Amino acid sequence: MLSNSLIEQDRAHLVHPVASWRGHEQSGVRLLKSAKGATVTDAQGHQLLDGFAGLWCVNAGYGQESVIEAATKQLRELPYATGYFSLGSEPAARLAARLAERAPGDLDHVYFTLGGSDAVDSTVRFARYYWNARGMPEKDQFISVQQGYHGSSTVGAGLTALPAFHAGFGLPFDWQHKITSHYAYRNPVGNDPQAIIDASVAELRAKIEQIGGAGRVAAFYVEPIQGSGGVLVPPKGWMAAMRAVCTELDILFIADEVITGFGRTGPLFACEEDGIVPDMMTTAKGLTSGYVPMGAVFLSDRIYQTIADGAGAAAVGHGYTYSAHPVSAAVGLAVLDLYEDGLLANGTKMGARLMAGLHGLSDHPLVGDVRGRGMLAAIELVIDKQNKTPLPAAAAPATRVFERAWQNGLIVRAFAQGVIGYAPPLCCTEAEIDAIVERTRLTLDQTLEDPDVRAAMR
Ligand SMILES: Cc1ncc(COP(=O)(O)O)c(C=O)c1O
Repeated sequence: MLSNSLIEQDRAHLVHPVASWRGHEQSGVRLLKSAKGATVTDAQGHQLLDGFAGLWCVNAGYGQESVIEAATKQLRELPYATGYFSLGSEPAARLAARLAERAPGDLDHVYFTLGGSDAVDSTVRFARYYWNARGMPEKDQFISVQQGYHGSSTVGAGLTALPAFHAGFGLPFDWQHKITSHYAYRNPVGNDPQAIIDASVAELRAKIEQIGGAGRVAAFYVEPIQGSGGVLVPPKGWMAAMRAVCTELDILFIADEVITGFGRTGPLFACEEDGIVPDMMTTAKGLTSGYVPMGAVFLSDRIYQTIADGAGAAAVGHGYTYSAHPVSAAVGLAVLDLYEDGLLANGTKMGARLMAGLHGLSDHPLVGDVRGRGMLAAIELVIDKQNKTPLPAAAAPATRVFERAWQNGLIVRAFAQGVIGYAPPLCCTEAEIDAIVERTRLTLDQTLEDPDVRAAMR
């Protein structure tokens, strides 16, 4: 079939996620054809370095034979097994056990989902059930962080704090509250780490009081690094300080590791680096490296036992047809092998190289901030470094920078506020990391030549 007719079919019938539907009708789809390692090839044969690993998910890189073989074998042997009626499959049981063994602290129990949004949604249900089981149903208020992203389910999108996910959807609900992000580059308290931590702790305590005290608050949600908000890295100690408040006040602390999990920042889970054990942890993306859909909620032993005792002989009424899907689980096992057989180590090395390379762009007139950890990074563009003035909206950084980088053979995440995000596959070579940085510099140089950008800089 000619790709032109595919484009027309897509335009007429395929609704794209988080897109301007009218904008997409005009632009049409860019069809991707194949991929290997960190390189993607589009339908025209144009090759690109995938500096964003799909949607920060193809952590193992494309075309890993062991993963393809594991999925194929499982498809032949048992393509589906329900987890209902106490049925199950070998790969799901093995994956749950291997993950529990590796997860921080007593996060010993795993509920598998189809992705990150339904993982977050599941934690809201589990949190409510937990407090009911403890005889405290009035603990029904939830707090999350501005610029946070917790998926796109009806409930999770209200924990998400990005305007596009609320406007027109009747969100957030009145039981969903926010505190300010740590966002060091633009924090009103300045960029001193301790000052940022103190301000966040004070704001969390004040928010809890405002809601009616700890007796009303069920849970607090955080990403170890805020991804979709623009790759915002909290100061060292921020996560531990927020965790300590929740422990003290008996509020569940839920870490959303959908992006940060599975080597994205270095170790298997970012919480390890932060030295904390959440009450629940959500993961997806790197769990299967994006080859097939799967997410996972990790529950602490305390949460699990309380819910189990609360339900007694009754069913805990939460379940999906595709929970613990055997093909996804087989892929999860194969991907975990790859991580542990060298990919995590390579990701840590390449992450340091990526950060060094991006810091090398700090001298560029458009680069206001460089931030990240491991293979998760961003640069924030400004037209005035002193005043941190963002690029003019008319420069449409999201589309212009994306398009330009694409022409230069690089896929990045170009955020509307003029932030360029990076999350390359952990299999990248040194030459590929260097090419990501070089192609970024070229893209920035070209953007600097844009008449509207030059005019705004004057
Ligand atoms: C932190 C976080 N939570 C949840 C989600 C939702 O995951 P999914 O898109 O798999 O539903 C995402 C997706 O990017 C995410 O970044």
